[in-house]
Amino acid sequence: MSQKILLDKVTIPGIKTYEVYRANGGYASVEKALKTLTPDEVVEEVKTSGLRGRGGAGFPAGMKWSFIDKKSGKPRHLVCNADESEPGTFKDRYLMEFIPHLLIEGMITSSYALGANLSYIYIRGEYMWVYKILERAINEAKAAGFLGKNILGSGYDLELYVHCGAGAYICGEETALIESLEGKRGNPRIKPPFPAISGLWANPTVVNNVETIAAVPWIVNNSGAEYAKIGIGRSTGTKLISASGHIKNPGVYEIELGLSVYEFMNSDEYLGGMSSDRPLKAFVPGGSSVPVLPAHLIYKTANGEDRLMSYESLSDGGFATGSMLGSGGFIVYNDTSCIVRNTWNFSRFYHHESCGQCSPCREGTGWMEKVLHRIENGHGREEDVDLLLSIQSKIEGNTICPLGDAAAWPVAAAIRHFREEFEYHIRFPEKIKNRDHFVAEP
Ligand code: NAI
Ligand code: SF4
Repeated sequence: MSQKILLDKVTIPGIKTYEVYRANGGYASVEKALKTLTPDEVVEEVKTSGLRGRGGAGFPAGMKWSFIDKKSGKPRHLVCNADESEPGTFKDRYLMEFIPHLLIEGMITSSYALGANLSYIYIRGEYMWVYKILERAINEAKAAGFLGKNILGSGYDLELYVHCGAGAYICGEETALIESLEGKRGNPRIKPPFPAISGLWANPTVVNNVETIAAVPWIVNNSGAEYAKIGIGRSTGTKLISASGHIKNPGVYEIELGLSVYEFMNSDEYLGGMSSDRPLKAFVPGGSSVPVLPAHLIYKTANGEDRLMSYESLSDGGFATGSMLGSGGFIVYNDTSCIVRNTWNFSRFYHHESCGQCSPCREGTGWMEKVLHRIENGHGREEDVDLLLSIQSKIEGNTICPLGDAAAWPVAAAIRHFREEFEYHIRFPEKIKNRDHFVAEP
């Protein structure tokens, strides 16, 4: 059984309530931080831990915290990004729904470290019932003296609010989220300036994912050095993985980073292997934005090493041969899955969710969706595969926010690894029209 630090208490009956959470050691990190540590000491612990952003980018959290402008005298804010919308990703929902006080505790300890007196949790509109769970947890924490004025007599004040989004994927991009929180249309801003310098109402702001903030209590209680001992190399700690697709045990798992993909896929503690006797065809390790990998690259890297659940191993050799840990949305496909259909489905999503601000993304996602649609529906043209590659290359790196790249990469990777499947669709349209999925010809 591997180490758990986020979900170790999730099965305790009643852990959603303040009383049970507190009786099981909850809010100890707030007491420790406010009574025995300076804000800078908390930042140092998080830096030492090597904790990396769990929303998808994997940026070192302690480094981001140390970028925050403390000299300007402006108010500072911590904003929790709970706008979890990446297709295949549902780990933050699980954490907030089943152990909400862990996030509230993390928000208080982290806000203290940043010197923030007004913080927010921005949750996606579709998680309305979780919004209510969080509101209740905040009220309980406030009644117990962990929020509001002069917390635990320390002189530190914090107001914490949950804000509900309205269902736009782009509002999960940190600057679009900030715009939305300010009451405006959720259009991403050009960076720099990064939010750490100019964020919410132009104040220094840290935006962190739910899972990142929920790891802070353990780090403060046990030290950054202890956290750094968990995991592998620069991939320290544990990671929540949302697993779905053709596997026996879909669900949310907490794994120690460095676990082999083979063990994660096949052991009964985790996914338990494929859901039927159909063979494994492909997988996406980190949500719809990251490149798909074919079967021969799932358990071994391009160099022949064991593929590990870590930031480095999943992106081995860069974009050409690797993928990304991303948000931990682990999607498994057997050989009845049609890669063209799947790619079209993802493209449709990104086209729909593009905010429309920049032309390469606004127009390019639409073109990719149209071309993929016609290939999938038996109207593909000989030149379409190269046309797709040309469109995606014009989007990649040429947009304001990462949604453009997220739309382009899966198309490029699908063609790189499964080009013959695209060509098969174009060459044999009548076969494609008569079936609802693609099965490779023997
Ligand atoms: P990013 O790499 O641009 O930024 C990462 C973080 O580091 C940001 O908070 C940024 O402000 C900060 N940062 C970077 N350089 C900085 C500097 N010089 N100074 C101060 N701060 C700096 O990536 P981003 O846009 O935050 O995330 C993209 C990822 O999000 C994608 O790779 C994808 O995997 C993931 N994603 C996750 C979703 C989910 O539902 N969890 C949804 C969509 C995307
Ligand atoms: Fe909007 Fe797409 Fe440009 Fe991002 S890349 S700002 S989603 S148009």
